[in-house]
Amino acid sequence: MTSGRRVVRPLTDVPARSLVRTAVPRHDGPMSNGAYAAAHEQSLADPTAFWGEAARAVEWTTEPATVLDDSDPPFYRWFRGGRLNTCFNALDRHVRDGRGDQPALHYDSPVTDTRETFTYAQLLDRVATFAGALADLGVEKGDRVVVYMPMVPEAVVAMLACARLGAIHSVVFGGFAPAELAARIEDARPKVVLAASCGIEPTRVVDYMPMLHGALDRSEHTPETVVVLQREQSPAEVGERSTPWEEMTWDECVEGAQPADCVDIEATDPLYVLYTSGTTGRPKGIVRDNGGHAVALRWSMTNVYGVGPGDVWFTASDVGWVVGHSYIVYAPLLTGATTVLYEGKPVGTPDAGAFWRVVSAYGAKAMFTAPTAYRAIKREDSAGELMAGYDLSSLETVFLAGERLDPDTYEWATRMLGVPVVDNWWQTETGWPVAANLRGLEPMPIKPGSPSVPCPGYDVQVLDENARQVPPGTEGAIAIELPLPPGTLPTLWGDDDRYVSEYLSVYDGYYLTGDGGMVDEDGYVFVMGRTDDVLNVAGHRLSTGSIEAALAGHPAVAECAVIGVADDVKGQVPRGLVVLKGGVDEEADGERIRAELVQRVRDEVGAVASLKQVDVVPALPKTRSGKILRKTMREMADGRTPTVPGTIEDASVLDRLAPVLAPRA
Ligand code: COA
Ligand code: AMP
Repeated sequence: MTSGRRVVRPLTDVPARSLVRTAVPRHDGPMSNGAYAAAHEQSLADPTAFWGEAARAVEWTTEPATVLDDSDPPFYRWFRGGRLNTCFNALDRHVRDGRGDQPALHYDSPVTDTRETFTYAQLLDRVATFAGALADLGVEKGDRVVVYMPMVPEAVVAMLACARLGAIHSVVFGGFAPAELAARIEDARPKVVLAASCGIEPTRVVDYMPMLHGALDRSEHTPETVVVLQREQSPAEVGERSTPWEEMTWDECVEGAQPADCVDIEATDPLYVLYTSGTTGRPKGIVRDNGGHAVALRWSMTNVYGVGPGDVWFTASDVGWVVGHSYIVYAPLLTGATTVLYEGKPVGTPDAGAFWRVVSAYGAKAMFTAPTAYRAIKREDSAGELMAGYDLSSLETVFLAGERLDPDTYEWATRMLGVPVVDNWWQTETGWPVAANLRGLEPMPIKPGSPSVPCPGYDVQVLDENARQVPPGTEGAIAIELPLPPGTLPTLWGDDDRYVSEYLSVYDGYYLTGDGGMVDEDGYVFVMGRTDDVLNVAGHRLSTGSIEAALAGHPAVAECAVIGVADDVKGQVPRGLVVLKGGVDEEADGERIRAELVQRVRDEVGAVASLKQVDVVPALPKTRSGKILRKTMREMADGRTPTVPGTIEDASVLDRLAPVLAPRA
């Protein structure tokens, strides 16, 4: 690795004012007035001073002995020696400091017609009691707890209760079906699984227990206990089946429990593991530590999002995704702000005015969601007529992330709302923005199509295949020079080798983001999309490998490939291409098989995969070593000129695929 060793400096040595202007500002294009350039420069030149200062916003039981421990590259650790409790910082300290009566969380659920507000004191009470209940089940520091729940307050309570005990939560998105859930349970090996009896989609109630039982039946790991939150829309039969694990309801679990105190945790201990999709069917367990996470998220609320204590903040995502972890749960609560937990959709619950209703009901200062949600609203209410009935005067900024913000959507949202619409680019791995227009630190002009500039702590570089930095305006692979800042992944759960091979092995000394793009003359980053086979469907990150595994499991399929193709609302949707086994009669059985394949993906991966189109093809294009040329097919399906590698085994396959892949008018 190329990164040199730096001197590890104790936190107490950090000067009180660390945002000193440096002599050579980076990214100092004509757009900048200095604060951003100074912060970014200092964060790279003297990370100890920069993050040491930021760490003062967090309450430690023991101050960190070091800010950045770079003694074992490429494994960097932040705030080693520090001790804290994330739940204490998110709840107890605010109650102690006089915010007990301030709303911490507004639960707004159009799908159940429920609205409920929890003050900081009330949320603390719930969390401490549930932590006590988990402790009664034997959950201790370091134990894993899988949370498979929809957008209900108990999901937030569960996460914070784990944090209180130092147990490691692993939240699994409720839209994932048994195969995805099982893969996560097998890797995380939880002592306890917390589930709800059902989730509620606009068109149907989704029972979780068949999915959970399906996952546990196929998993090699068995938890000790399964706790089920009964929801009246579809209560589950709890404990009625003979199972190797104990089953109880949430109420039974909590009954008689005594509040638990915060456990003192090492800054470098894991807070959670959140699985994310790679290209293979095996999800990657992104580890988040306690100390770096608290520092980075708290810093981002002030400096990126411009949100402070007492402000109301509305993030429409799901606790199963990183946006939900960071910006529904942890960052707003670490800040002493009020967060909105919205169980609904941008459209259809009941209409495309749903977000405006929520903003006006709670006086949200800022909101955050994925561009796809705005595209869905635009499709249903392009004139913004549904905004008219709501007072949106509190709304100062809209933040969008999770996928590329296309200029059309950006311009529409800006015109409709009349407030800055701010793109920010990041990943499950980073936990907070890599690039953003830092509204708190130094708002900059917005360039449509760009999430603006690298955030402090991130040395973003665009590299060519020889690891050379390309000139401004030239596309390449987006990489980040190590070390990554606090809050980003220190490794993958139980798999240091995979962390290195997946992220750090392509360019020595750099983290490979998996995204391609460029940086322009002003230092603005443009992210064009994944360079690998990871899918981004309606802001949901999915793996081609998982979907292919579901297709390949069908007895009529000889081989298959999944590619992501452009979609007006979802950004991207998967398309399946299958070669049938010899002897299968496509004419007679093709239609049935295609329908079964679509259903298999719903049953195994989840409806959220949105696989609607599967085509039977005579062959798949491959290299001579057998690698399927997904990128070539993706380009053909998007109507672009395909890149055909010289190593293709049989170029005539592409001619035979062309009519199938050609974009339909
Ligand atoms: N549990 C169970 N099923 C779920 C689910 C969940 N949590 N979330 C989605 N699904 C199902 C849906 O019901 C739908 O099923 P269907 O095929 O039977 O209709 C399918 O998965 C696809 O859902 P979705 O991706 O939500 O598509 P949609 O067409 O219903 O709605 C949008 C389109 C754009 C409104 C929706 O995708 C959306 O709100 N996206 C925002 C995503 C987001 O917040 N991402 C987080 C990153 S910031
Ligand atoms: P996830 O880990 O689910 O957050 O997905 C991360 C991926 O989503 C990134 O690697 C990008 O491909 C994409 N992404 C997220 N935010 C943006 C953005 N603002 N612009 C472009 N792509 C984005």
